[in-house]
Amino acid sequence: MKLAILGGSFNPVHIGHLVLADTVLSTLGYDRVILIPTYQSPFKQGAIGGSPQDRLDMLAASIPGDPRLTMDDCEIKRKGVSYTVDTIADIMTRYRPEGKLGLVLGDDLAGSFLAWKRASEIIDQVDIIIAQRITAGAERFPYPHKRLNNAIIEISSAVLRERIRNHGNWRYLVPAGARTIIEERKLYGYFPLEVGAPVISAGPGVWGLISGVEAAVRTTVSFSRFLHSRNTALLSWDLCRRFGLDPQAGYLAGIAHDICKSLGDAEMLNWAQMDGKDIDAIERKKPSLLHGRAAAVVLENRFNIHDEAILEAVRLHTTGDRGMGPLAKVVYIADKLEISRDDLAPGIRELRETADLDRLFAAVLEETVGYLRSQALDISEGTLRLFETVHKRNSR
Ligand SMILES: [Fe+2]
Ligand SMILES: [Fe+2]
Repeated sequence: MKLAILGGSFNPVHIGHLVLADTVLSTLGYDRVILIPTYQSPFKQGAIGGSPQDRLDMLAASIPGDPRLTMDDCEIKRKGVSYTVDTIADIMTRYRPEGKLGLVLGDDLAGSFLAWKRASEIIDQVDIIIAQRITAGAERFPYPHKRLNNAIIEISSAVLRERIRNHGNWRYLVPAGARTIIEERKLYGYFPLEVGAPVISAGPGVWGLISGVEAAVRTTVSFSRFLHSRNTALLSWDLCRRFGLDPQAGYLAGIAHDICKSLGDAEMLNWAQMDGKDIDAIERKKPSLLHGRAAAVVLENRFNIHDEAILEAVRLHTTGDRGMGPLAKVVYIADKLEISRDDLAPGIRELRETADLDRLFAAVLEETVGYLRSQALDISEGTLRLFETVHKRNSR
């Protein structure tokens, strides 16, 4: 997959960022753009505004259901001053892009590029893409690069912050999801002028449904769990495309699979048993094992999703079981191999890019069971049944 990265403070994210990412995707042949909020820019220390978590949340809320865009919290997790050279190394290790990584730079930054930490290494490692910002084409850039012929949107986060504080024109320059967060958390000095501000609801169609489920996940689980869910959705999308399955179904199952992860034990049991199946002794002892079953019930009852392949994928993602369909295998794999899991064995990482579905599934299952055994953890009956079947098939 061809990847490009677009860093920034995203304080707040605005339509200029998204239009820019969209232009990189549609004109330069990249498959995905990774938006990376800085923890602290070496050039903008002490900038005021949203906390790192607010900035991440606003980004997450701005791109629901779009598999061509993603975000990564590596700079925020790393803390301290964010250097691009460190980010490039991290992204290369975890994402393993096809060909050179693209690095999008506004032409307003091009002039100071040589002052960046280890700038000459960056030039060797990535394809630099110079985008037009407010000062179109103002800076010369004497190193190899591509110029992006993007529309100039005369808006900056600093101007937006000012307008939010002063009740100026900002609402439609910020994606709807980010706008809701600014209003709810009263960021940048926002305060409502009228009572009963409008609520943003999901639109019609599959994307509307996906956006609704994604918003529910974003607001009910921790941010790291949300990021895991979104990365699972993206990897499910990618794997579905590779294996000839419906990518939207993969995305939906992936984004939803952990929607019940934060429920308490009693509530978990309540939801799970609504599917009419038995609850075994291990599950009763540890109801969190039922979060997949509970999620399938929630999707059916709260979101009106009746596609059996999607429900099965969500229901079985934790334990698996004999006779799982291809979509369920994809989500099971994606849950364990998504990009924010940096503890993957290199062999598995290799398989993630190349193996066919059954081979990849068998490898992930083997790894999971091996891990559970090494930690002396309980293994559910479904997992054991599945392991025996796959093992038998492979040893024939
Ligand atoms: Fe899970
Ligand atoms: Fe998960």
